[in-house]
Amino acid sequence: MRCIGDYEIGETIGEGAFSKVKVGVHRVTGRRVALKFINTNMMEQTVGYLQFRREIEIHSRLRHRNIAQLIQVIEDEDRGRTCLVVEFIQGRDLLDVISDSQKGGLSESEASVYFSQIVAAVQYLHGNGIAHRDIKLENVMVTDTGVCKIIDFGFSRGTKDNDIMKTPCGSPVYVSPEIMKKKTYCGMQSDVWSLGVLLYSLVSGCVPWAGLDIIRKRERAERGDYIPLQDASPSLQNLIMGCLCVEPEDRMTIMDVQSHEWTMRRHLKRRVSGPFRSMVRKIMR
Ligand SMILES: Nc1ncnc2c1ncn2[C@@H]1O[C@H](COP(=O)(O)OP(=O)(O)O)[C@@H](O)[C@H]1O
Ligand SMILES: [Mg+2]
Repeated sequence: MRCIGDYEIGETIGEGAFSKVKVGVHRVTGRRVALKFINTNMMEQTVGYLQFRREIEIHSRLRHRNIAQLIQVIEDEDRGRTCLVVEFIQGRDLLDVISDSQKGGLSESEASVYFSQIVAAVQYLHGNGIAHRDIKLENVMVTDTGVCKIIDFGFSRGTKDNDIMKTPCGSPVYVSPEIMKKKTYCGMQSDVWSLGVLLYSLVSGCVPWAGLDIIRKRERAERGDYIPLQDASPSLQNLIMGCLCVEPEDRMTIMDVQSHEWTMRRHLKRRVSGPFRSMVRKIMR
């Protein structure tokens, strides 16, 4: 059995663009972890290497229920790689959750349970001066008990409130118009755009510009032109519109998103208020 540090290396559970992720089992305690291996030998002095160092520096500072905890970093100099030991998340990523849903998307009440947890994590990041810069369904894991955990801080960046960034990053479908236009941008404002795309996908099962090639998608996104969701509540439509606002200065902030009635699920409570509520109470008695 191959080992790294105190961990036995098991099967591969994920392969990202820059890494391989395997299961690890602690030799003494038996605790399961995720081992994220990154080849660093060819990387030194490159932008990728700096970003990778940043991932470690930022991830090691984070402690939040909805963020996968980084436990340890092990340098494997002989093999020219570094290994991030991360809390193992027993579950699936959100893309798989949606793919398995029969209706092509989740119900609003189901989606808001997930979304409010993701927003709590992003609020924590922004409150600590960190932009994630790669928010997407694949980077949110859901445990078997329904707890969301953000993974992958490979593009994250420490920032002050109005810090301006230049490096375009993130997945094409999720990136904000200001990044597409290759403008300087604020990482936190762009995170909120990505949250809007994620939320749209959660409830519809497809991205706001589904079926369009990247050039058309770009044209539409830059105009803020997306197909309105059929059957979505006005409250949800309002939240998505606030996130997918083309002008970053007018876009909702993470605080706005967190305190929005849809995120707080006040829209659900309202539906069971008044005469209907007392009727439910009578039935329940
Ligand atoms: N802590 C974890 N627990 C379980 N699976 C994980 C964990 N971290 C990553 N994975 C799996 O590995 C995949 C790639 O990990 P990620 O950190 O996103 O790498 P990359 O930076 O290469 O995208 C994820 O999509 C997920 O399936
Ligand atoms: Mg990833």
